[in-house]
Amino acid sequence: MTKLVSCPHDPNKRVASGMRPTGPLHLGHYFGVLKNWVEMQENFNTFFFVVDWHALTSDFEHTAHIKEYVEEMVKDWLAAGLDPEKSAIYVQSHIKEIAELNLLVSMLTPVSWLERCPTYKEQQQNITDKDLSNFGFLGYPVLMACDIIIMRARWVPVGADQIPHLELSREIARRFNNLYGAIFPEPEPKLTPTAKCPGLDGRKMSKSYGNGIFLRDTLKELAPKIKGMLTYAPRARREDPGDPDLCNLYPYHELLTDKPARDEIRQGCVSAGMGCADCKKILLKGLENFLAPLHERRAQIETRPGYVWEVLAAGKERAAKEARLTMDAVRQAMQIAY
Ligand code: TRP
Repeated sequence: MTKLVSCPHDPNKRVASGMRPTGPLHLGHYFGVLKNWVEMQENFNTFFFVVDWHALTSDFEHTAHIKEYVEEMVKDWLAAGLDPEKSAIYVQSHIKEIAELNLLVSMLTPVSWLERCPTYKEQQQNITDKDLSNFGFLGYPVLMACDIIIMRARWVPVGADQIPHLELSREIARRFNNLYGAIFPEPEPKLTPTAKCPGLDGRKMSKSYGNGIFLRDTLKELAPKIKGMLTYAPRARREDPGDPDLCNLYPYHELLTDKPARDEIRQGCVSAGMGCADCKKILLKGLENFLAPLHERRAQIETRPGYVWEVLAAGKERAAKEARLTMDAVRQAMQIAY
């Protein structure tokens, strides 16, 4: 690893990560990423942001709900335990320096790096209802790299789907460092231990599939969802044995149920001693217990109108200070500080 010429902090202690404002978060977001964020804020200097500009890279025509989604998502973050005292929590577009860095870095990023990015190729092929033939969409990973390197962070807690983007971030940081002087740590992903969290119908949990359990779901909303959940299909009758390893519901017990109860469920399932309805009851109870503190914090937040925007304003202060320091160093390094 190149020795950095100037970094005002220990880069190994610094974490940055962002999420697109897609509205209410579901369990997949929580167990895939958010849980990791909440844990990391204890031992790292953490920067967490809403990437509202990224929302525009594929959906520039639909901007009416972005503001509402930003607020909803940050409420979920706070409800899940992100602490504005511990983490800088802010909105990407409030830090204009990111746009400046994006412009500068785009000069040294070969188009071929972006075109060969697997997520780019895949989405170009598979998403047909959106116009993705844009400069901004192609440049998505450059902007993402800038979100991270502007904070000179080493660690980026994300889902495994983001690995190709982080590879590009490292290549971009490396190229900058080689050309102008080593000022950027090379960012690396911090993955959560693989926790499977399928959607209610067995596909990937996603808001657009309508198969999600949301962090803000009330008990009333949860009960029918769990009741209707797809279990191990070959177990057609109560007296047929099941197979937890092929069941769509069992992975939730891995996330929410303690080991002794889980062993009982497993045993009851394979011996047909326990039916799916009872297994679901245990899950519903587990979900209730898990969500109760989140709902309590959310209710508190909702008694304070404007609180989310206060948190985001304070986060902006902290993040902007770092971004200004980095951009001073960048302009110096590039000899365009005049
Ligand atoms: N690409 C990420 C996603 O779709 C979001 C993102 C944008 C991000 N910038 C980032 C994640 C910087 C981590 C760090 O989930």
